[in-house]
Amino acid sequence: MPESFQAPIGTRDVLPPESARWQALVAGFAGLAGRAGYGLVQGPVFEDLGVFQKVGASTDVVRKEMYDFEDKGGRRLALRPEGTAGVVRAFIQHRPTTPWKVWYAAPNFRYERPQAGRYRQHHQLGVEALGSDDPDLDVEVVSIAADLYASIGLRRVELGLNSLGDATCRPRYRAALVEHLAARAGDLCDEHRTRWEENPLRVLDCKRAPCAAATADAPVMIDHLCDPCAAAFERVQVGLRALDIGFVVRPRLVRGLDYYRRTTFEFAATALEGAQDAVGGGGRYDGLAELLGGPPTPGIGFGVGIERILLACDAEGAFPTPAATVDAFVVDVTGGDAARDLTALLRRSGIAVDRAFGGRSMKAQMKLADRSGAAVAVLVGEAELSAGTVTIRRMAEGGGQAQSARDDVVAGVRRALAEAAPR
Ligand code: HAM
Repeated sequence: MPESFQAPIGTRDVLPPESARWQALVAGFAGLAGRAGYGLVQGPVFEDLGVFQKVGASTDVVRKEMYDFEDKGGRRLALRPEGTAGVVRAFIQHRPTTPWKVWYAAPNFRYERPQAGRYRQHHQLGVEALGSDDPDLDVEVVSIAADLYASIGLRRVELGLNSLGDATCRPRYRAALVEHLAARAGDLCDEHRTRWEENPLRVLDCKRAPCAAATADAPVMIDHLCDPCAAAFERVQVGLRALDIGFVVRPRLVRGLDYYRRTTFEFAATALEGAQDAVGGGGRYDGLAELLGGPPTPGIGFGVGIERILLACDAEGAFPTPAATVDAFVVDVTGGDAARDLTALLRRSGIAVDRAFGGRSMKAQMKLADRSGAAVAVLVGEAELSAGTVTIRRMAEGGGQAQSARDDVVAGVRRALAEAAPR
């Protein structure tokens, strides 16, 4: 038996017809982002390992889950575990004018324990906006994500909002939290009992019962915001209300990456299972450009998981896979020259058209024409061939057919399509 292979664990093949929905989602997002002034950024799938180490030394995403490797030239590289760090690296490298607003649709790689909705290669749609700390930009960014969910009919999505403060107020808050946790360290879950000091804020987000109990009355960041952070957080909330975007302030919301400052948010799909219910998240990362060796530059963005969104759509019965159809199907039983030439001609005229291959029988070709969803079949038999004509048949029950001069086939198909009942 020859060796056979499967897609690696934690990865998926996305095939037609399901891929048509994927394609429609990306196209819809490109439209939304484009209308808000965001241009496509297309970067490498791998970066210097250091780019990611800088953004998340204390996070699982970077510490435990990264696909890092040495290339044949001895460089230490990593497959991108998330999209933001690479975009900020590109910003620093190319120094575009600000505000710099970009969107992406790209794969990310995390060595996680695969399960429903959690993959080792997942795909994100996202935006990043660099160069302004105006909280109205936060509102713009959040609204693009909210509009994406709405545009595909996803309703059961909850927006959780928090502020993680900045370099002025966060250290003061951290000290208060450390004091609280130090008195209860022995009560924390197995993981955090020994590691809570590395990133005390993460303990707040821990879902395990011991941590939840030990932090039930812990101080929260939003009670310790400095005046500028408090004002910005207020302005964000005012903006979201003005745009009718529902949200819940979640003072314990701490995201899984280290670079966040001020506004942070997460969208949870209530139709999905708890641990994998995040269909998107993001926030400000005002210190990140400096951390990566660039000029101080504020920034904000989000990433939404394509696979998760589609799972949530399935759970809600929203955004069904669009039917994949062509307009016309050429059936040629005269040897194939006509099918070859007519499909090319019709396609060059902008008509979606398919055909059969391999000299199949009339019956077999008609079956394929039917399955293709085409509204119109273009038939070429010996009679048509010698008369220089084609038969144009409307595929719907009782649709009728007409002869057309072969030279006139484009107009004939267009006419038949205009008259054909949608199938
Ligand atoms: P993240 O929360 O790690 O943020 O990922 C964003 C979204 O990607 C999640 O909400 C989820 O929908 C999806 N996702 C993450 N991991 C997986 C996985 N293993 N399998 C399936 N889907 C997954 C970021 O990555 C930040 N870069 C977002 C951001 C952009 N912040 C600022 N700008």
